[in-house]
Amino acid sequence: MEQMRQTINEAARAAGTVIQSYFQGVFKIESKDGINNLVTEVDKHSETAIINIIKRDFPQHSIISEEVGEIMQDSQYQWIIDPIDGTVNFAHGIPICCVSIGLRHNGKMQMGVVYNPMMNEFFFAERGKGAFLNNEPIHVSKKTDFKTACLVTGFPYKWPETKEHPIKVFERMIIQGLPVRRLGSAAIDLCWVACGRFDGFWEYNLNSWDVAAGYLIVREAGGRISNFDGTETTVFEKETLATNGLIHEEMLKVINKE
Ligand code: IPD
Ligand code: CA
Ligand code: CA
Repeated sequence: MEQMRQTINEAARAAGTVIQSYFQGVFKIESKDGINNLVTEVDKHSETAIINIIKRDFPQHSIISEEVGEIMQDSQYQWIIDPIDGTVNFAHGIPICCVSIGLRHNGKMQMGVVYNPMMNEFFFAERGKGAFLNNEPIHVSKKTDFKTACLVTGFPYKWPETKEHPIKVFERMIIQGLPVRRLGSAAIDLCWVACGRFDGFWEYNLNSWDVAAGYLIVREAGGRISNFDGTETTVFEKETLATNGLIHEEMLKVINKE
């Protein structure tokens, strides 16, 4: 386990160095599926730096990474990587973006790092051992009064086939006078719930690389993650509700129009 801790830390720091060295500089930008779903050459450099370190230390482990896809091996260990989460922010010089690396073992998240080098914020969690920001323990907020909660959400690049347009849920939150922020990085949204800046976060249609590290960080910080029906979720499902646990039921009611 100690070697895995070292590897995840080294890989995240290496990616952070790449991201920071190009931040607000010059780099190639392309569109993926959907005109504003961007990928930059920096996403690829960051990804290469991470994968090289993981392969050097654990050549037998599987990898799922946003830009290269899956590197499947016959292993119980799986590294789940988002080389830059918040690429649109990164491409526009907005310092709300990060690298996210999660390690899954036998179907359970074991370790996660979310690192935003521009803000010098390094979030880390290990299953059963708590969550940390720059080595200090973090905890979700203690807010119980939903009416005064501070929330965050995100929207997909392309509207998927949802039961309901995501903007409807957003509308139901803001007409109650709730402050709802939209940062543009799901991994950072989750970490900011974990350290108590936000009381709740919801989003539809995220991918495993967006949430793998963040889910563990929220849970280890004492928070709750579920689907929109309140059931336990995995990193491969599409509905994300992450809260301090105390306003979870109230948020479910608004999401489900009850
Ligand atoms: C995106 C960010 C954003 C979320 C999108 C994601 P990317 O990831 O997490 O906050 O709303 O759904 O795709 O493309 O910057 O890695
Ligand atoms: Ca992402
Ligand atoms: Ca990404």
